[in-house]
Amino acid sequence: MIIGVPKESAQGERRVSLVPDAVSKFPQLQVIIETGAGEGAGFPDSMYLAKGAEVVSDHVTLYSRSDIVLKVQPPTKDEVESFKESLVLISFLYPLSNLETVQNLVSRKVTSFAMDLMPRISRAQSMDALSSQATVSGYKAVLLAADSLPKLFPMLMTAAGTISPARVFVIGAGVAGLQAIAVAHRLGAVVEAYDVRPVVKEQIESLGAKFVQLPVTAQDAQTSGGYAKAQSEDFYRKQQDLLAEHAKSADVVVTTALVPGQKAPVLVSEDAVKGMRPSSVIVDLAAEQGGNCALTEPGKTVIKYGVTIHGLLNLPSMMAPQASQLYSRNVVTFLLEILKDGKLDVNLEDELIRGPLVTKDGLVMHEQTKKALESSATVTS
Ligand code: NAI
Repeated sequence: MIIGVPKESAQGERRVSLVPDAVSKFPQLQVIIETGAGEGAGFPDSMYLAKGAEVVSDHVTLYSRSDIVLKVQPPTKDEVESFKESLVLISFLYPLSNLETVQNLVSRKVTSFAMDLMPRISRAQSMDALSSQATVSGYKAVLLAADSLPKLFPMLMTAAGTISPARVFVIGAGVAGLQAIAVAHRLGAVVEAYDVRPVVKEQIESLGAKFVQLPVTAQDAQTSGGYAKAQSEDFYRKQQDLLAEHAKSADVVVTTALVPGQKAPVLVSEDAVKGMRPSSVIVDLAAEQGGNCALTEPGKTVIKYGVTIHGLLNLPSMMAPQASQLYSRNVVTFLLEILKDGKLDVNLEDELIRGPLVTKDGLVMHEQTKKALESSATVTS
């Protein structure tokens, strides 16, 4: 069997799904890479060749020879059309937002696994690509903020006087938010954080930040998997008003609030931005899902009412070498779960394998995606 590693075709994507050191994890299989696949992440073809991989000149050759394809970004229609029928794909897929891709995979009878659907159980922690990449995003978000803010982060006592520390407010304390808190704290800022899930209070405090308690209580805040649940419009309006008060005293606001499968909730309103200090900075890590700030323009950095708002997408790609290393580890660990003695062994009884499975043998296997496809077919008919 052959494992194929393409050069990512999505604009601005520098990560690669398999780093050279991981080639040796599959002694019974052959690894082929598309020329330049690792270049954006600092891994030239020569490093793959040295580890025993073969380099091919283009993605059409790669896809026509591969039995297993490892990717970062969901494949385009053209890419799926070049796939050998019935191959196995492991990639970020976000199937609920990419229904057309799912249909393409079904037509090609691809067995596809979405890294973004990995169950959050302890056995799957080393395969949790959402967490590994969110860690990188949280780190980079604070560096972006520190670079854009025309102020020092730490308190400094100098002969010329004392400089007070920057104030950082993190909204959403999941994986990215907790990393942002830790980095901002290490840089010397005074950090406050808020999350709709009150259970994160202790984690926030253990990182040296103050937990902000708002006088609104979310109904049934958390799913059994640890994710936030969507709340009512009225709840979000109250949250916006209360968060605006906290944003007023912040130099930096980092927003990371997401609700799986939904558009990101708007938590920082236009009025809240107007009320912020001049030259303060917002980094909106939810930009990919529309943004937590009403004025975020996904993919751009804009200045509104004197506040710099970063809505940059794909922050992990800006730190491609290590983001790729972590992602590659996640993917390899998962692939080893579905291989036995160098052959595929897709055990549908195992929740770790069943959870991320999106399509197989021309069928949609992920229930929510199946329902979404059925209702989109009803709407269009
Ligand atoms: P996420 O990226 O879906 O959301 C980020 C954060 O936004 C979450 O903490 C969420 O509560 C918060 N949020 C959503 N709506 C909000 C609102 N209206 N106001 C304020 N905050 C809001 O979540 P992420 O980072 O992927 O993980 C969430 C949790 O999942 C973790 O904190 C952890 O408990 C659990 N988890 C478990 C793992 C495991 O057991 N293997 C691995 C990773 C995470």
